[in-house]
Amino acid sequence: MNARLAVLASGAGTNLQALLDDPVVGPRVALVVSDRADAGALERAAGAGVKSVHLDPGVHGSREGYDAALEDLLTAEGIDLVCLAGFMRILTPPIVRSFRGRILNVHPSLLPAFPGAHAPRDALAWGAKVTGVTVHVVDEEVDHGPIVLQEPVAIREDDDADSLHARIKEVEHRVYPRAVRWWLEGRLRIDGRRVHVEGSG
Ligand code: GRF
Repeated sequence: MNARLAVLASGAGTNLQALLDDPVVGPRVALVVSDRADAGALERAAGAGVKSVHLDPGVHGSREGYDAALEDLLTAEGIDLVCLAGFMRILTPPIVRSFRGRILNVHPSLLPAFPGAHAPRDALAWGAKVTGVTVHVVDEEVDHGPIVLQEPVAIREDDDADSLHARIKEVEHRVYPRAVRWWLEGRLRIDGRRVHVEGSG
């Protein structure tokens, strides 16, 4: 499928880079959007020759106004699939509905444990022995939608939030492109909370 993919990112963009470097996913990345002008993700997009847009929350005001502008941009660019990769904004229900089943997110824990913006820190504070990575379909609730793929990461005695997050990211960079590839290949069938990966196992 010749799908066009947009990646939304607020930070360093290492997950964006993993998507760009994937031989199947990379060529499909048509647009990178960031809410932060200084996001490393915008530089990575430029480096890869991909159109990049800084969509400034200061200009668009309300969350609804911002997401309306975002949806207009995605529609104008003919985007089929949206990949959140460290995008530090919560999407509002209308844009989630417009792209139902077509927004994926990568989260640094085994959901539903440790949702939110500080998952590695929260896992450590809880004294968990294992955390991990979740790729899920985005729905109207935060870090909540149907799970496409998960992989555990062991927590070490000497971990701090940074060392743990670094090991989690290594896994993210391996599994997020795989999940996106499944979507592009039309292999994901969403059935309530369950996501079946066709042609696997
Ligand atoms: C990743 O850990 C992702 O799971 C989380 O934010 C981080 C983004 O990192 N949502 P990067 O900008 O891709 O390096």
